[in-house]
Amino acid sequence: MESASVSNTIQKGGTILKSARSQDFMTKEGRQEAFNNLQKFEIDGLVAIGGNGTFTGATLFYEEFGIPIVGAPGTIDNDLYGTDYTIGYDTAVNTALDAIDKIRDTADSHERVFFVEVMGRDSGYIAMPCAIGGGAEIVMIPESVISINQVIDTLQNGWNRSKTSFIIVIAEGDEEGNATEVANQVKAALPQMDARVTILGHVQRGGSPTAADRLLASQIGIATVEGLINGKKDVMAGIVNNRLVYTPFKDTIHKKKIINQRFMRMVEILSV
Ligand code: F6P
Repeated sequence: MESASVSNTIQKGGTILKSARSQDFMTKEGRQEAFNNLQKFEIDGLVAIGGNGTFTGATLFYEEFGIPIVGAPGTIDNDLYGTDYTIGYDTAVNTALDAIDKIRDTADSHERVFFVEVMGRDSGYIAMPCAIGGGAEIVMIPESVISINQVIDTLQNGWNRSKTSFIIVIAEGDEEGNATEVANQVKAALPQMDARVTILGHVQRGGSPTAADRLLASQIGIATVEGLINGKKDVMAGIVNNRLVYTPFKDTIHKKKIINQRFMRMVEILSV
């Protein structure tokens, strides 16, 4: 790609390269074909955009073929060690939050309980700001255990205090199950409440990026290319505490970025 190939793309969601999870790249033959293509086009360095899976593939590719690769953190889940925020996260959160605001109108006017499922297979990074910013009563995420009984108690207590609408934000990977599974159990215990489930799904993965995401992507895009020019390889460029850092792929793959438990407490305090 030339720099002209990416003009008029900063405002777009998705990927113009159409690069996505590749089954072929998981095989030795697929990676060999990728290497042959790089040689054909005289490409001697790569920027890999993605998360854990992408960097696992990049590490393998570097070991097998010696092509230097610098990574850019691109996942809406924000669960990557080595950067405070991943590219796409802010946009996904704002999209989900906007939807929750709209759901709240029905919750409030029809006096209902809404179980809203957001993305996050292994993490509650999307769920947490949506719960705080959306004024949810409960947030359920993989990183902290909230039992169905606790959910039932919280709703019952609110109901006893004449609270008539509730929003429960659930990360799809929560240990108690997805929103439908949680809602079914809660509905059985609290039949007097009018409950609904909304699964936000892939709306969170598209759309025009927020200003914060455009800025982050631009900063990191420059850092990946400059990193390659300066001889970096097998690392991901990220921003930690407002500073550019390069983190080895092995750390981004194996180390966990812990969600701040203080946020859990904020949901409890603010939802009373
Ligand atoms: O890893 C990012 C992510 O958006 C997860 O939050 C979600 O579980 C998954 O991708 C969805 O993947 P797919 O589009 O393949 O169903």
